[in-house]
Amino acid sequence: MHKRNFLNLMAGVGLTAISALTHAQDNSFKVGLILPMSGPFAATGKQLESAARLYMAQHGDTVAGRKVVLIVKDDTGSPEVTKRIAQELVVNDKVQVLAGFGLTPLAMATAPVATQSKTPMVVMAAATSIVTEASPYIVRTSFTVPQVVVTLADWASKNNIKRVVSLVTDYAPGVDSEKYFNQRFIANGGQVVETLRVPLRNPDFAPFLQRVRDAKPDALFTFVPAGVGSALMKQFAERGLDKAGIRLIAEGSVTDDDIINGMGDVALGVVTTHHYSASHKSPLNKKFVEAFGKANNGARPNFMAVGAYDGMRVIYEAAKATKGQGGEPLLNAMKGQVFESPRGPIYIDAQTRDVVQNIYIRRVERVGDQLWNQEIETVTDVKDIGKSR
Ligand code: PHB
Repeated sequence: MHKRNFLNLMAGVGLTAISALTHAQDNSFKVGLILPMSGPFAATGKQLESAARLYMAQHGDTVAGRKVVLIVKDDTGSPEVTKRIAQELVVNDKVQVLAGFGLTPLAMATAPVATQSKTPMVVMAAATSIVTEASPYIVRTSFTVPQVVVTLADWASKNNIKRVVSLVTDYAPGVDSEKYFNQRFIANGGQVVETLRVPLRNPDFAPFLQRVRDAKPDALFTFVPAGVGSALMKQFAERGLDKAGIRLIAEGSVTDDDIINGMGDVALGVVTTHHYSASHKSPLNKKFVEAFGKANNGARPNFMAVGAYDGMRVIYEAAKATKGQGGEPLLNAMKGQVFESPRGPIYIDAQTRDVVQNIYIRRVERVGDQLWNQEIETVTDVKDIGKSR
């Protein structure tokens, strides 16, 4: 054998040996957390990441004898970027779990990657009903928009609201909100006098709110995604809708705990339904809110945070049950988990892989110098009505 060939051969053997060694030593359990960390939905990414890190800080970074490694990636809010990052995380980083997904289109774009690679995908934020049906590997720990808005429609019908205008952001969860709220409200005997949709990117609410004012409904029903509620609320006041006696009722993302304090008096009395409020009265939530604030300069966790915190719980407990094994066994161990969340009792329906939880009717009230979504009624164990379509 020529000397050079021999050296090449030895180098090759060396590389193989090194790679085998690294593999054997790579005793990590990797979670790829894909979030909008820049762009218009960066606040969502920040809430999700902070809560995932809080869970790890409280529960340790070792599970089933393996070191949990959280790989956080910025998807910029773009579906194409989210999908590409998911592919890289699966192929290059060999993650056991894909997680995050701040918006429905991001979850939908990634679903085929989860299916093809048989990687469990924990949806911690996206809330359109259809999301869990996009891949059998998806488990959801956030909420579903239909779950929330039908509860609000029932409340509205019982509280002297007979005519509404609906105003939603024009993308999947907005369309779900419009469909399921309006359907239920009409079935209850109410009237929807106009249905309006505003664009997702750079929405200008003014012309839409003028139409609402002209239609003079008893209430405006609205959905906008987390972070966008401040702009809507400001315009609602500026256009004088509150003074005109039009009540505002909304899917709970509108009075997002992260931004509610910046909304001012116009938010007072607004009734929403949602699965989580930072003011939820339970010892577990009190601890969660305090610990989140301590770790994040006094910030208040919102419903995005609780989706990530519980998502990490689902991942940790599943990894314990499978002793760190991934794929199908890990997915199966996520299904059917029942536990107390800071939001209240929840479970992951083993059939639908979707979250079943209490939905709270809340009213914005001032307590001391802060605004809170105060829970006034609870509807227990609500399933996603979208699944029975
Ligand atoms: C979604 O895109 O599914 C979504 C995002 C933010 C929300 C609610 C739903 O507040």
